[in-house]
Amino acid sequence: MKAWQGRFSEKTDVLMEVFNASIPYDQKLCLEDIEGSVAHIQMLTKIRILSESECDQLLEALVQIKTDFIEGNLSFELSDEDIHMCIERQLTEKLGDLAKKMHTARSRNDQVATDLRLYVKYAIHRIKEELKNVMSTLIKLTEQHGELILPGMTHLQKAQPILLGFHLNAYVHMFKRDIERLDDVLKRTLVLPLGSGALSGTNYETDREFMKEKLGFLEVSGNALDAVSDRDFVIEMNSVLAIVMMHYSRLSEDLIVWNTQAFDFITISDAFSTGSSLMPQKKNPDACELARGKTGRVYGNLMNILTVMKGLSLSYNKDMQEDKEGLFDSVETVEIVSKVYNKMLESITFNVDNMSKATESGFLNATELADYLVSKNIPFRDAHHITGAVVKYCIDQSVGLMGLDLKTYQRYSPLIEMDVYDCLSCEVAIKNKKSYGSTSYLEVKADTKRLGEWLFNSFTDSL
Ligand code: ARG
Repeated sequence: MKAWQGRFSEKTDVLMEVFNASIPYDQKLCLEDIEGSVAHIQMLTKIRILSESECDQLLEALVQIKTDFIEGNLSFELSDEDIHMCIERQLTEKLGDLAKKMHTARSRNDQVATDLRLYVKYAIHRIKEELKNVMSTLIKLTEQHGELILPGMTHLQKAQPILLGFHLNAYVHMFKRDIERLDDVLKRTLVLPLGSGALSGTNYETDREFMKEKLGFLEVSGNALDAVSDRDFVIEMNSVLAIVMMHYSRLSEDLIVWNTQAFDFITISDAFSTGSSLMPQKKNPDACELARGKTGRVYGNLMNILTVMKGLSLSYNKDMQEDKEGLFDSVETVEIVSKVYNKMLESITFNVDNMSKATESGFLNATELADYLVSKNIPFRDAHHITGAVVKYCIDQSVGLMGLDLKTYQRYSPLIEMDVYDCLSCEVAIKNKKSYGSTSYLEVKADTKRLGEWLFNSFTDSL
């Protein structure tokens, strides 16, 4: 019999039962639901709605249900509708009428909102740790290979020489911002809806502060109508996860390009590549491609929840049951991508010779020549123009800037002297960078140190 059967004279249609049930996926909220119920029961005992002995029996039965779930022995029935009714049914099977008291001063509306907030809280904690591991692996790569020079690109065209560590650190900065965004979402997620009832509050002198403390929330919600129907935290979480995936997708693209035969800057280990069933020679960077591809579903999940919530009248509507699958999917996607990335990055080898050869072509040192002319008191715009003309000549003659003789240089500007050759190597170009946050050896070292310290502190904070 359904909990709400009293008002009904007909049985639910089988098709409706399937359509209505969230138990196939909201069973993932089992532990959160039990945690919420424990706090609710303890609160009901504190305000004397339940006796101490009733409390003990209920809590003991919930511990058994929890164990059954962890061991994979909990039975989920479609007729349970959702995880809340499922646990109540299990409790009733164990304790009879006493179990029916548990739902005093509570509705599934404030219950599900609480469960989902607890889910997001734990997910944020796990994803932060995963992102920190990836950051730490990237920093290790920078420490080992960071001084290799490669062509920095704009428009995927060779632009200026940069250090490998500079490139990798850029991603460390992105993941750091992602972690900060997750912390920000957490603040608004830890507002407790429990005790709001169905929509207007409850008729009991409940102690919501007590439940807040028990469940590790920061605040108690201030408006029941808002509390049962607010899914902003789901939208924010999906949105941050979409940004995380965008970062993974860009990193994937860089690695895919570096892994092409044309670039050949890196080799991704066999353990994280796959082959072709037709072409025997193929070895493809599928881990990166999948991460890039899965970004699509995470963006889709964000669009999904934004659209579900758009135009919903206050307060709870069953539409909101659609808040879960996309959230679970985005969380699980970011988790597996982070785990794969962490191991895959560790297994990458850098093809030093190819990287260095790539810096010899493409006029990466053209800006250096322009800056050299500026040092001879030529205004930057003119220096830019002169350098452009020199480059054009070099392209026609198939030589690099290093290969051009002084006489020819002086045709473009009599101010060019022998010392021009001193500033044209990539190493010098990198050393000459002076601005804070630049690709110079010193600045990359300093930035790596700052990032490492931030990471160390955040690891110790989460202990
Ligand atoms: N399974 C429901 C959900 O996920 C729980 C809340 C049901 N509330 C209701 N009034 N029918 O949204």
